[in-house]
Amino acid sequence: MTATGSAYRRGPFREGDRVQLTDPKGRMHTITLTPGKQFHTHRGHVKHDDLIGAPDGSTITNTAGTEYLVLRPLLSDYVMSMPRGAAVVYPKDAGQIVQMADVFPGATVVEAGVGSGALSMSLLRAVGDTGRVHSFERRADFAEIARANARAFFGEDHPAWTVSVGDLVEELPGAVEPGSVDRVVLDMLAPWECLEVVAEALAPGGVLICYVATATQLSKVAEAMRDFGSFTEPEAWESLVRGWHLEGLAVRPQHRMHGHTGFLITTRRLAPGVTPPMRKRRPGKGYAAQEGDETTTPAEVPPGTDDAEWTSEALGERVASEKKMRKLARGVVPPSPR
Ligand SMILES: C[S@@+](CC[C@H](N)C(=O)[O-])C[C@H]1O[C@@H](n2cnc3c(N)ncnc32)[C@H](O)[C@@H]1O
Repeated sequence: MTATGSAYRRGPFREGDRVQLTDPKGRMHTITLTPGKQFHTHRGHVKHDDLIGAPDGSTITNTAGTEYLVLRPLLSDYVMSMPRGAAVVYPKDAGQIVQMADVFPGATVVEAGVGSGALSMSLLRAVGDTGRVHSFERRADFAEIARANARAFFGEDHPAWTVSVGDLVEELPGAVEPGSVDRVVLDMLAPWECLEVVAEALAPGGVLICYVATATQLSKVAEAMRDFGSFTEPEAWESLVRGWHLEGLAVRPQHRMHGHTGFLITTRRLAPGVTPPMRKRRPGKGYAAQEGDETTTPAEVPPGTDDAEWTSEALGERVASEKKMRKLARGVVPPSPR
């Protein structure tokens, strides 16, 4: 038995395959090979029949003499060109998510939201046919686009994928057994609202990874993870990928790049009843002042609400001690009189 979609990824072009045509200026066009159809531009056309049966990586010349390179799109090409309702997770971040959340073959993964399904496809690739990806999406129209996108890529409905329409917080408890989920991936506006249901679903040692677009979301989810108490100390990062221009002697970084996509933050579920070991560094005086105040939660009173919290220490700035400042002052040589 072959893995889902693998039959569509190799061999000569067949009817129904999506192929990518690249013209001499680097412009790409994606077509689905259909017997009897033609691919037209304002200058000439190509017959689909001339491509069906040709090997992947062929060239074809249209009726106006323009030569095209023809290749099957890779998953990374496909997600960037497929129909989208919401912003997609870019391939560079999807790669980080799969690797850093350790999404393994056979894993049970919960994902929310689905958006256009870009990340879902990478997760499905990683868990394979024996794993399970249970994705949740609030918007039925987005879920439908995502299902259609994945079906077009894998050639059928992926057997490891379940898409549920609804809010993760409401749907997850009824959808999975407590402690049965290996990995949870959240790409949504307010991941901190989902921590309770995620903690309940995750197996001890399971990984939660969140993709957020702004530093304010990053801060809020990090503090909420800490405050929740059943997770390890979170780790956050971003990745910047800079393409290179390769032409003759002009080998240099490209002038344009995607300067920002999002931030990633991971944490791991502790065993039931285990609290995280004491952190060496406290988050700052202002934040600590909220502890013991049982009328509020970090989600209601985000860090930084009180102006008194914005100290140099809380921002992680190095502050010289009084003693060091006195020593420095003694060492300052006054300017000599002219
Ligand atoms: C940026 S999109 C996700 C894009 C997706 N990861 C991709 O790569 O195509 C965020 C989605 O999360 C959904 N969403 C937000 N909060 C949600 C929640 N609590 N439960 C389920 N879906 C949610 C939104 O409707 C939206 O479609």
